[in-house]
Amino acid sequence: MQFVIESKGISKVFNSGENKIEVLSGVDLELIPGDSISIQGSSGSGKSTFLNILGLLETPDQGSVKWLGKDVSSMNSNEIAKQRSSVIGFVYQHYYLIPELNVLENVLIPAKINGTEDASVKDRALHLLEVVGLEDRKKQVTNQLSGGERQRVALARALINQPKLILADEPTGNLDEETGLVVMDMLLNLCEVENAALILVTHNQEFAKRTNQAMRLTLGKINPC
Ligand SMILES: Nc1ncnc2c1ncn2[C@@H]1O[C@H](COP(=O)(O)OP(=O)(O)O)[C@@H](O)[C@H]1O
Ligand SMILES: [Mg+2]
Repeated sequence: MQFVIESKGISKVFNSGENKIEVLSGVDLELIPGDSISIQGSSGSGKSTFLNILGLLETPDQGSVKWLGKDVSSMNSNEIAKQRSSVIGFVYQHYYLIPELNVLENVLIPAKINGTEDASVKDRALHLLEVVGLEDRKKQVTNQLSGGERQRVALARALINQPKLILADEPTGNLDEETGLVVMDMLLNLCEVENAALILVTHNQEFAKRTNQAMRLTLGKINPC
């Protein structure tokens, strides 16, 4: 079976003043369609760096990343951008919605990037907004929304292009416990219904246990925990 994402030997060193910080030292990962893993690890252990490398928002010093079996190092930047927006959906701790745009327009951004923003995609956006309980807020600008509502918009946005993989970097990190639970239930449910694989970075042990495999990033290596 083809992996949705595959990384081999990912290493990354940052220079901090005179010191070199080896954040990742040979990280391998494989995910089959619909699979899910969580990654825990202390602050600064390299979780975000690893997700950014998997999404090719950062380049590794060593190692390879394949999306749907295709080595990303063989793609030019246009191809990477196009592939990224159709293969991967991102969810961040700080939502990163565009405040001047309304809820529906925010959900449609990845479709716009992909050049697929037609009537059927708009229907899909409305459907996703219904799933996250925000269909009646579609015209509202997002800076009027609560944190939990913003993250629910971000979930719909992450899924609009029917990605094969969701990369979620502490998606409940800014939310209170109760709201975090609602958002996590929605994220896990949406990934299951949409058959999207999930890599979930979280500090919450209960959420980490809800994925198929729970991993921990320590001293540049990723291991089951
Ligand atoms: N662009 C950068 N330049 C220098 N150091 C960085 C950069 N990005 C991250 N780091 C450092 O790499 C380490 C890992 O960061 P990060 O991946 O954000 O950790 P985590 O997400 O696990 O908290 C930290 O020590 C951080 O300061
Ligand atoms: Mg981080």
